[in-house]
Amino acid sequence: MMDVKDPVCGMTVKVEGSVFTSSFKGETYYFCSEKCRAEFDEGPDAVLAMKSEREKSVERERSVSLEKMIDAVAHEIRNPLTSIGGFARKIYRSLSQDDPNRDYMKMIIDDVARVENMIRQIVELKTMGVLHPKPSDINKIVSEAVRSFEKELTDRNIEFEVELMDKPPLALLDGGSILKTINHLIRNSIEAMEKAPGKLKISTFIRNEAIEVTVSDTGKGIPEDKIKFIFDPLFTSKIYGPGLGLTFDKMIIQEHGGSISVMSEPGKGTVFTIRLPLKG
Ligand SMILES: Nc1ncnc2c1ncn2[C@@H]1O[C@H](COP(=O)(O)OP(=O)(O)OP(=O)(O)O)[C@@H](O)[C@H]1O
Ligand SMILES: [Mg+2]
Repeated sequence: MMDVKDPVCGMTVKVEGSVFTSSFKGETYYFCSEKCRAEFDEGPDAVLAMKSEREKSVERERSVSLEKMIDAVAHEIRNPLTSIGGFARKIYRSLSQDDPNRDYMKMIIDDVARVENMIRQIVELKTMGVLHPKPSDINKIVSEAVRSFEKELTDRNIEFEVELMDKPPLALLDGGSILKTINHLIRNSIEAMEKAPGKLKISTFIRNEAIEVTVSDTGKGIPEDKIKFIFDPLFTSKIYGPGLGLTFDKMIIQEHGGSISVMSEPGKGTVFTIRLPLKG
């Protein structure tokens, strides 16, 4: 059953069978004790504002520690990897065509290249952040992304639909980074529909003074216990995926002062929503 957090003390409480509940502005809140419920009822607005601050600060701390981890991993791996790759290539070149070890050396070289690529992306992630925002038309960015996938989608029998808002307002966006993010969300959707080609739909619209872009697919979906980890670096369900794509996407969107969220139902599909505020 679903667990939620007590907005007063932050403890996890079970929704089912919960006896300490309170309603505020049409939402139901769950508490661990009568004491927490009473505190909430005294000033729900203040409690909710504090909860949101607490969550933001946890998120900030998490980002700092993730960054430290990324630094350490990249540093510790890069140097030994350079020698492993370099020596492996040297040995490979010295082996005769019929040497039985050739295949093994090739495997080492390929795997090292894969890890090197991942480290490169990790370092890119660290150094990213310098955006060059210009007044941009989100519809143009989305259209460009879709255009680059048109052939692949057709070849893979994936049906696609693009629904763009009328007269999009210009927003301050780093077009290249946003394009990269939308491209990547489309890539993830294609990967999720690898076994069963379905439908990809991309929409742009305005909601609550923000531009929203949704990328939805009818792919395999994301299991409930995994969904909270998908934006973390190195989280992947691929055998060799670096699992950095969504981490990049989230950083890019956050740098724009926006947010990215996901809703998914295993077996049915997934919707990613990017929110880009119109006012800085
Ligand atoms: N549209 C989607 N449908 C189903 N699962 C998804 C979708 N998008 C992401 N995921 C899940 O989230 C995981 C993490 O995604 P992310 O893009 O960060 O990494 P990746 O695609 O595995 O690797 P990379 O993007 O670095 O090549 C994926 O491995 C997949 O399990
Ligand atoms: Mg990906």
